Amino acid sequence: MRAVNFDRPGPPEVMKVVDCDIPEINENQVLIEVKFAGVNRPDIIQREGNYPAPPGHSKILGLEVSGLVSKVGSNVKGLKLGDKVASLVNGGGYSEYCIADQETTFKIPKNISLTAASAIPECFFTVWSNIVMRGNLKKNQKVLVHGGTSGIGLAAIQVLKLFESEIFTTVGNNNKKQFCQKLGVQNVFNYKEQDYFEEIKKLKYKGLDMILDFVGGDYINKNLNLLGNDGKLINIGFQNGSNVNLNLMKIMLRRITITGSTLRIRNSSFKGHILNQLKKFVFPNFENGKIKCYIDSVFKIEDVVASHKRLQEGSHIGKVVLEL
Ligand SMILES: NC(=O)c1ccc[n+]([C@@H]2O[C@H](COP(=O)([O-])OP(=O)(O)OC[C@H]3O[C@@H](n4cnc5c(N)ncnc54)[C@H](OP(=O)(O)O)[C@@H]3O)[C@@H](O)[C@H]2O)c1
Repeated sequence: MRAVNFDRPGPPEVMKVVDCDIPEINENQVLIEVKFAGVNRPDIIQREGNYPAPPGHSKILGLEVSGLVSKVGSNVKGLKLGDKVASLVNGGGYSEYCIADQETTFKIPKNISLTAASAIPECFFTVWSNIVMRGNLKKNQKVLVHGGTSGIGLAAIQVLKLFESEIFTTVGNNNKKQFCQKLGVQNVFNYKEQDYFEEIKKLKYKGLDMILDFVGGDYINKNLNLLGNDGKLINIGFQNGSNVNLNLMKIMLRRITITGSTLRIRNSSFKGHILNQLKKFVFPNFENGKIKCYIDSVFKIEDVVASHKRLQEGSHIGKVVLEL
């Protein structure tokens, strides 16, 4: 089969399409003939050598796929040959065949294309497990999500809308600002023209209830200073660094929680638990059109280098996808 591989960490050009063996499934897995694979920021960090595959995971990039079931393990229930599925996978997505655990594999919701389905797992599993399960999101809360037009940002905004949240977001240009406003986000700040901290302070709220952040760096103190009593700061990345000087007094005085998580290292049973909740609360909203998977661009596997450049250059809105 063809797959994307790289021998040494480095820029997008280290990735090459190579021939390799089709992987062997165990009795609890299915083999997916991959049609599309989502491209995520963690793939870039892995390619650069800063996010190695955990032991036992495929070294081939790619954390989410859609396609057709082409082999079924003897213990697998509810999935059969030829089913159209998508899956959150332990690497190996950028290839023509990919192993998928049954717990993290699902039949594609009605009205969702194979292309869009490949872009659901990584962002929706991450967002749901952090803001709903970890953050215990409640209806009508005030929530700030950084990077509103990223894959993560758009998933978060749409989940927050289900909870009737008052949503705040940051974006890097006015095109992205308009996109978020059209989605119904009440407070959108172009961080290159406005300081989101000063703008939110001007609104004279008693404080935000939750912040989902992957920027870190100087955002960490600003975020903490925007949270109200019992507010929660959830970090799922630190694009601008994770070392800061913090005065912890405000955590005590306002009962703030600082938390975070990475999805990849969690086991299949935990990921399966997230999937069960997504099936119940989120997938019906894909089917009725309330939630969409926004695709920025689709690249052929031969153009994998261009797909990473597209994500890194940063003007994308929504997800970048590879076609196998
Ligand atoms: N912990 C986990 O389990 C987990 C799982 C998946 C993803 N993540 C993390 O989540 C983040 C997003 O992933 P993704 O795949 O959705 O990537 P993506 O689409 O490439 O998003 C990156 C975003 O960062 C925004 N950004 C950069 N600097 C910013 C700043 N100073 N303020 C606000 N926004 C800024 C960019 O927007 P502009 O171009 O407009 O600046 C862009 O939208 C990544 O850091 C990734 O590592 C974590």
